[in-house]
Amino acid sequence: MTATPTLALESGDEIPLIGLGTWKADPGVVKSAVKTSISLGYRHIDCAAAYGNEKEVGEAIAECINEGVVKREELWVTSKLWCDSLQAEYVIEALEKTLSDLRLEYLDLYLIHWPIAIKRGDFFFPERADQMLPLSECPIAKTWEQLETAVDRSLVRNIGVSNFSEKKLRELLQSARITPAVNQIERHPYLQQTDMFNYCKEHKIHLTGYSPLGSGDFSGRSSKLNLMEDPVIVDISKKRGCTPAQVLIKWAVDMGTSVAPKSTNKDRLAQNLASAEVQLDDGDMEKLSQLDRHLRFLDATFWCVEDGPYTLDNIWDEQ
Ligand code: A2P
Repeated sequence: MTATPTLALESGDEIPLIGLGTWKADPGVVKSAVKTSISLGYRHIDCAAAYGNEKEVGEAIAECINEGVVKREELWVTSKLWCDSLQAEYVIEALEKTLSDLRLEYLDLYLIHWPIAIKRGDFFFPERADQMLPLSECPIAKTWEQLETAVDRSLVRNIGVSNFSEKKLRELLQSARITPAVNQIERHPYLQQTDMFNYCKEHKIHLTGYSPLGSGDFSGRSSKLNLMEDPVIVDISKKRGCTPAQVLIKWAVDMGTSVAPKSTNKDRLAQNLASAEVQLDDGDMEKLSQLDRHLRFLDATFWCVEDGPYTLDNIWDEQ
């Protein structure tokens, strides 16, 4: 069984750098993917209430624990607070629902999924401005206080954020009693986020990269470019006797970041975990660093409804 490299967070907890992504893993297949991954040696499962499959993920984890394949304390389970629960009164309730769906007593990491607040209603993504709340009416600092309470109550071991800009992290650090342990952002060679990488390093915030393989199975992608067909990545994979996906995963691991590539296919699950054994040298890393083109496959336009409070400018805070 392949050992997964880990990295100690500021709390002392060790996050496995290669995890399993469950976004876009449909109910019906995700259970078997999680069970297979755990038996292959995966110890990090990246979940979210918004993925709509936490109950099945929970069944898989429970069966693996009951069958003696893994112990709870050997697993790293991340989940995320959905945007309809950022208002302080909903945070713990949403976390408890996730814990119940995942059949866990605690999470290793709980993230604010997006710095976006939406009202509760019979919709998943808002289509109208009146279904959303500006952050001025739902301050992140208040949401964060609830997450800190969740740590105090041992419902979660670490708390963090996702899709936060450096500006929003800076604001949060001003009031936070517990520093965010992680920022999970889109990250791959076409979107290297060097400023964020350096900022997080300086502030001891761990970075997790999502869409490490380019999320080719996401229908809402802003570009049809296929990372795994990039000639530089293909050349390195040939030279190293591995696959392009493995180059992408090892690039992230060698930079001290974690990734949770999604797969529901046994061979690709095994291949992705085995990326830890791929050797990339400085020359490979240098060639990969030159591929940056600031390309977001998830550009967040889905949050920008007409006359709504969120725009690409105020989500990403970029010039
Ligand atoms: P599948 O689930 O059929 O394996 P991301 O993690 O960036 O969101 O990318 C997920 C996409 O990449 C899915 O379409 C997944 O398909 C595919 N994928 C996962 N692992 C590999 C791999 N090793 N080689 C090629 N495609 C992969």
